[in-house]
Amino acid sequence: MTKPPQTLILYAHPTPHHSRANRRMAEAAAKVPNVKVHDLYELYPDFHIPVRREQALLQEADLVVFQHPIQWYSMPALLKQWVDSVFTPGWAYGPGGDALHGKDFWLVATLGGSERSYQAEGHNLMPFSAFLPAFQQTAQLCGMNWLPPHLLFGAHQVNQQTLAAYIETYRKRLANYPNWPELLAANSTTSLTGN
Ligand SMILES: Cc1cc2nc3c(=O)[nH]c(=O)nc-3n(C[C@H](O)[C@H](O)[C@H](O)COP(=O)(O)O)c2cc1C
Repeated sequence: MTKPPQTLILYAHPTPHHSRANRRMAEAAAKVPNVKVHDLYELYPDFHIPVRREQALLQEADLVVFQHPIQWYSMPALLKQWVDSVFTPGWAYGPGGDALHGKDFWLVATLGGSERSYQAEGHNLMPFSAFLPAFQQTAQLCGMNWLPPHLLFGAHQVNQQTLAAYIETYRKRLANYPNWPELLAANSTTSLTGN
């Protein structure tokens, strides 16, 4: 029997007990079959990352998810430390570094700023897409397939209904992976072109 597609969520929240959004998202995700929520701040509060263990977990995954609050326009410090330690040359990139090739990568992130704040007139001056290239190129350098991020703006302000809908979309997407419209479209293009 073929193994069902596996999802690994790298969940990073430095203060999960104060979380309004991510904690509920992680709880919902953990109930989805074939999804593993890997809680980095719970596992490695001392920032000591067991590199081989993390690499073995990644190798099992078809979909790699980074789930976290945006902090200073980027990822929380422990997740950055995790990337620095785990995505090693000759394993994740560079000559012989093909361990992550062909995996799907999905950024799921919450923001304190509203969508209006991420505009030329807003206090963040530019759209949030201006802060994504480092994430996207990290995935692409490692041969992963970048999927459109799932973002929640104004995480402190949105009403309960909006928050619940955002979490439900997250849960459904995880449950339906890899049957996502963008992946099905990409696969049908590939089979049409023979690439
Ligand atoms: C140190 C720190 C830095 C932050 N930087 C940003 C930022 O650059 N942009 C932004 O929109 N929100 C920023 N925030 C707000 C968080 O993104 C927000 O609190 C979080 O997404 C809410 O999710 P939660 O309810 O799961 O904690 C920051 C928060 C902290 C504590």
